[in-house]
Amino acid sequence: MNVEEMKKAVARAALEFIEDDMVVGLGTGSTTAYFIRYLGEMIEKGKFEDIYGVPTSYQAKILAMESGVPVLSLDQVDAIDIAVDGADEVDPNLNLIKGRGAALTMEKIIEYRAGTFIVLVDESKLVDYLCQKMPVPIEVIPVAWKAILEELSIFNAKAELRMGVKKDGPVVTENGNFIIDAKFPRIDDPLDMEIELNTIPGVVENGIFADIADIVLVGTKEGVKRLER
Ligand code: 5RP
Repeated sequence: MNVEEMKKAVARAALEFIEDDMVVGLGTGSTTAYFIRYLGEMIEKGKFEDIYGVPTSYQAKILAMESGVPVLSLDQVDAIDIAVDGADEVDPNLNLIKGRGAALTMEKIIEYRAGTFIVLVDESKLVDYLCQKMPVPIEVIPVAWKAILEELSIFNAKAELRMGVKKDGPVVTENGNFIIDAKFPRIDDPLDMEIELNTIPGVVENGIFADIADIVLVGTKEGVKRLER
């Protein structure tokens, strides 16, 4: 299996957790995109009834609408039964780094509240510790970006303001904020670091998702592996 096939395989495997009448948090990114499309196909075939998706981004919302998944916002539902999303890194305790797609704040708002949070990754995302390969994305209030960059130096982080592609200047999130990508030497205590970063004034949210994932479905060359906390 190549990486694309692994993404499709975990997205298909995630459908097994879906039941009629569920409210499903819809993640952001290329792997979850397959899940949203497959979910739409199942709804169209009548395999699932009364499913509603709560998207974590415009990408997820538009894709859900195109795929025939009825969409509601978080404030229109009483609870999120299950959420399905990708990740940039997964450590051995199933702590995550997320936010390459700059949707980390809405992802955390929804996935924190989900009855079950299922993560879909290919095996390249498994790491020994967080920040082994990827930086931690941090959503910040725009005017505070420079001060926060300097403040991150106490953690020995290599931090930079994320710049747009096909847009001049910085990436602006769906909440109107900037993203700083901070590469820390290594993160040994993800929960502690997640909490500490959020105490910096001007930080809206950061991309460490400690103790939130319930199940990680990993696409490997041999097939889909299931990791559970
Ligand atoms: C977006 C995310 C994505 O879920 C994460 O970047 C994984 O994306 P992909 O499935 O495309 O590798 O956190 O903010």
